[in-house]
Amino acid sequence: MCGIVAYLGPKEAYPILINGLRRLEYRGYDSAGVALLNDSLEVYKTKGKVADLENFVKEVDLRGTIGIAHTRWATHGEPNDVNAHPHFSQSKEIALIHNGIIENYAPLRSELETRGYVFESSTDTEVLTNLIEDIRKNENVSLFEAVRIALNQVIGAYAIVVIDAKDPNSLIAARKGSPLVIGIGNDDYYIASDATPIIEYTRNVVYLDDEEIALISRSSDLKIKTIRNKEKTPYVQELEMNLSALEKGGFEHFMLKEIFEQPQSIRDSMRGRLHADIGSVSLGGIIDYEQKLVNAKRIIIVACGTSWHAGLVGEYLFEDIARIPVEVEYASEFRYRNPVIYESDVVIAISQSGETADTLAAIDLAKQKGATILGICNVVGSSIARATHAGSYTHAGPEIGVASTKAFTAQVTLLTLMALRLAQLKGTITKTRFVHLLNELERIPDKVAKTLQSSKKVIEIAEKYKDVRNFLYLGRGYNFPVALEGALKLKEISYIHAEGYPAAEMKHGPIALIDEEMPVVVIATNKGTYDKVVSNIQEVKARKGQVIAIVTEGNVAVYGMADYVIEIPETEEMFVPLLATVPLQKLAYYIAVMRGCNVDQPRNLAKSVTVE
Ligand code: G6P
Repeated sequence: MCGIVAYLGPKEAYPILINGLRRLEYRGYDSAGVALLNDSLEVYKTKGKVADLENFVKEVDLRGTIGIAHTRWATHGEPNDVNAHPHFSQSKEIALIHNGIIENYAPLRSELETRGYVFESSTDTEVLTNLIEDIRKNENVSLFEAVRIALNQVIGAYAIVVIDAKDPNSLIAARKGSPLVIGIGNDDYYIASDATPIIEYTRNVVYLDDEEIALISRSSDLKIKTIRNKEKTPYVQELEMNLSALEKGGFEHFMLKEIFEQPQSIRDSMRGRLHADIGSVSLGGIIDYEQKLVNAKRIIIVACGTSWHAGLVGEYLFEDIARIPVEVEYASEFRYRNPVIYESDVVIAISQSGETADTLAAIDLAKQKGATILGICNVVGSSIARATHAGSYTHAGPEIGVASTKAFTAQVTLLTLMALRLAQLKGTITKTRFVHLLNELERIPDKVAKTLQSSKKVIEIAEKYKDVRNFLYLGRGYNFPVALEGALKLKEISYIHAEGYPAAEMKHGPIALIDEEMPVVVIATNKGTYDKVVSNIQEVKARKGQVIAIVTEGNVAVYGMADYVIEIPETEEMFVPLLATVPLQKLAYYIAVMRGCNVDQPRNLAKSVTVE
């Protein structure tokens, strides 16, 4: 989604802004722009990538020690030069960048039009910019006050930064629903939609809360007020992020780096939590809510995208070993379908970014109904992490590739730990089995490393099928969510249509699609419904489909049936998703690379979806 960077200080702003925009490219965007204030306030913006913006400004004077910059992911109005941010107000006295959606932009725009404002773009952002200008003029107030009053009239979500052509000494920033971080340097300020553009300059940051406005000024300390005019004391936190985590470290793409980081990221998710030696699991972040979990009659998991797939694995885990009913809901459906929620319910919200708008709204709804909300987030300090009653971070490290990989396996790891802990507390598992599972879970990072060792087979398969139009993924039990996730990875980054299905359901529809051109990935690991999945392989072969089977090491039976076989190490059935997902991530990756796709920033997708 859109990205914000702004700078105020003694240094030249442009290099910092462009560098920041590059750091934010991973969020997904379709145009970019910058506003710089030197003798006058100038805006440069263009459709396309940050590199296009750099080309666009090659010949212009880019001096200035204050500026704002933006990458836009289109919501209102197509991606083009005019709709790109920053937006000038009509008089060109202010310019503004915005993440989020102003839902009541249409009536606000009509009203401003009756007062003589003419709009250049189709955006909701230009409406907000002129609303602020109108208030400043008519009510004769400071820009800060005008922003505050305007935000009281706005319905929707925003993170904004406003620059005033007549004031080279201050910027105004505000947020509601979309994150905004202010980095505090020695004698300067860095503002951004997440910490990635800030980390190389300072570790001291203030996260704005919803409905807060900040006055960032050269001559005084940071001032924060709520939009209801209440003073707030800025709370300065220290970032723990590591700069090397934001670089590719020798890999061709972030996605590949993140796939290969999984042995470590899974280990990091378990660190200090899994103690196989003493037979215990401890999750400090939710320790005060363990009794709520024990007493809960039901768990509801809310999430979107890949996180929703992790939630499905969670459903199997909790029901299997902790014997508690689980419902897994798309947050976007849950929030609008008048769900039945009891105070005794525990809702687990899963989100890599911790900023997904639908997941946040689902949390709000469940909170209003009195349920207990636990979070599983990757981004520390994110909105979801703050909105939940308690939670556990996945500690997978920054995930830059838009297609989620290491965050998924970290989420599944955490859900596994939660389910194991709950099973122990509820006594639904014997001590021997519990300890056995802990020991096996501890071995998973090494088994993931083994799964990653060779890419030869996956590359061969990718070569063979890179030009097909459709793919089918089948799995059962714990491997059904794996099939969904495998299909999602492929469609996200290679633009090949792919569907994940529960293997037994194939005969109720997708079987009609199978012909000699159709590759079917079947996850047929030992245990569970293995024999039945093997029958599904035969059904595909009987219709001349092409089978790519993921099997447990040493399984020779499937070699005779499938066109390609990929082996993964033997493990407990409930841990298979942590291994079986990995070759599917690689398959999607290599196919996308061979098709010449932009793997880390697939078209139309955003890393963190902060709008509905
Ligand atoms: C976007 C991303 C997906 C992600 C989903 C949910 O669609 O492209 O990779 O799974 O949002 O995001 P979250 O941050 O809530 O896990």
